Amino acid sequence: MKTRIINCTRLSTAIVVASFSCVQARDLPEPLTDSDFLYEGSPDAEVFELGRMLFFDPILSGNLNISCGTCHSPAHGTGDGISLSIGEGGQGFAKSRRTGPEGVIGRVPRNAQPLYNVGAKSYTSFFHDGRLEPDPLGTFQSGFWSPAREHLPEGLDNLLAAQAMFPVLSPVEMAGQKGENPVATAVAEGRPTDAWSHLANRLAEIPEYRAMFKAAFGHGEVTFVQAANALAAFQSKAFRSHESPYSQALKDNDPTLLSDAAREGMKLFFGEAGCSACHSGPLLTDHKFHAVAMPQVGPGKGHGSDTGYWRASGFMDRVEDEGRFRVTFDPKDKFAFRTPSLINVSLTGPWGHSGAYNTLEAVVKHHLNPVASLHAYDPVSLPHLDDVIEQTGEGSQLIFRPLNPARAGGYFLRDQWVQSSGKLRGHIAGANDLMPITLSNAQISAILEFLESASDPAVLDLVDLIPASVPSGLAPQPTRHQGASK
Ligand code: HEC
Ligand code: HEC
Repeated sequence: MKTRIINCTRLSTAIVVASFSCVQARDLPEPLTDSDFLYEGSPDAEVFELGRMLFFDPILSGNLNISCGTCHSPAHGTGDGISLSIGEGGQGFAKSRRTGPEGVIGRVPRNAQPLYNVGAKSYTSFFHDGRLEPDPLGTFQSGFWSPAREHLPEGLDNLLAAQAMFPVLSPVEMAGQKGENPVATAVAEGRPTDAWSHLANRLAEIPEYRAMFKAAFGHGEVTFVQAANALAAFQSKAFRSHESPYSQALKDNDPTLLSDAAREGMKLFFGEAGCSACHSGPLLTDHKFHAVAMPQVGPGKGHGSDTGYWRASGFMDRVEDEGRFRVTFDPKDKFAFRTPSLINVSLTGPWGHSGAYNTLEAVVKHHLNPVASLHAYDPVSLPHLDDVIEQTGEGSQLIFRPLNPARAGGYFLRDQWVQSSGKLRGHIAGANDLMPITLSNAQISAILEFLESASDPAVLDLVDLIPASVPSGLAPQPTRHQGASK
């Protein structure tokens, strides 16, 4: 990352010299320009429009009941405003989202990531654990390392397009359960290629989509790879956001565009408070992985093994989320997660990889003494899941049935099991590599002001991106009306 000296001449004429010296500004990043984004900032208009429809159309979900937009809503900071999403099988939206009559298999185990600036070329991995990455050695024909390994097809335009291949395969997010629909069954049987083909065939049966694919790609063939390319084009442009006061100050090389408090906070952030050791660059992330003892709420990613939970509940005992470690199997990566971008961070709560913190202040304070904060953490309450289904049997004998009420207590213990177990908390604490630091309340407030200044409230107006209708004839998700009510 390039660094530069902030224009000192301009500063010396400003009254703010004392709170923002040239020396401390030396690590300020370069502003972003078109060339920092995929498609040099200008994806093809027809491809963008196709991606916009696909993003909000539940046609891409196995049971036709959820879209990308349900969890990544433009008016909710490109997330859904809740710690852990309720995926397919849910009803309602954002804070009022609950389980529907068909029930859900469980919670989505991680917080829905914000999509601001995901079209920046600086993204070298996607997901909290970075499990999707470029594969420069060409191990796989797709050009990407991913959970789909050799199944990921060729022809994906970029890493962001490759990402769009995955939500549709996740049973809890979009696909549904084996036997409910052909996409879910293909996923459960380890045939992702068939799942993608099935979705492409669905699109090809809809004349309006056929016409849009033709307009976008110049021929009538509809493939899921093209759908993914269109989703990437849409996200890269729609969610580009660097008009906040902070971004403006970088662009104009003029920190006086920030309030006094924000400038003080910026000085701490890039200086004494050490935040920019990880939250660096114009997007305030190094795109690397660090263990900062962030608490876990919710069911976890199925990692670890804790027979205590099994004994208490009768359910499978893998309740932890070990983060990057499960991608690299390098012990140094235990409980490490990708440094989030802090652009628009004041709009993207709850915060942390499992949405453990409800306020920006709390997640910032967590950084001051991560281990102590982890042990003192009081878990956020997650929305009650009224209708849960459980899986019994194996393979073709797989049966889904409503959760046995006698087992419900044990099932729900899981949401807070990691935090309530001294042993499991100890795993997270032991991996921490962020040293404690002392900051006064005034300094913390200043940092919060700076983070506000790195947010651009105008992005909440992006609700206009939601189409009034989508080619499948299903209701877009969210509808404009739902999307507008924050
Ligand atoms: C049920 C909620 C849900 C749905 C539906 C959903 N997502 Fe996500 N999205 C998430 C969660 C949760 C994560 C983080 C997952 C992880 O780290 O394991 C995520 C991560 C992402 C990321 C990675 C961002 C980053 O910074 O690494 C992108 C891009 C994304 N989603 C795009 C999409 C697209 C495109 C669709 C539709 C095809 C979609 N999502 C559907 C919840 C959802
Ligand atoms: C050692 C690297 C590192 C340092 C230093 C650091 N952070 Fe973080 N920060 C992270 C990581 C990694 C996460 C995500 C952790 C997770 O979710 O498990 C994070 C999360 C956050 C979040 C929540 C973002 C979100 O979208 O959930 C905020 C806000 C934040 N950091 C602010 C700060 C501030 C302010 C400082 C300085 C006082 C700071 N960080 C110092 C690595 C760091």
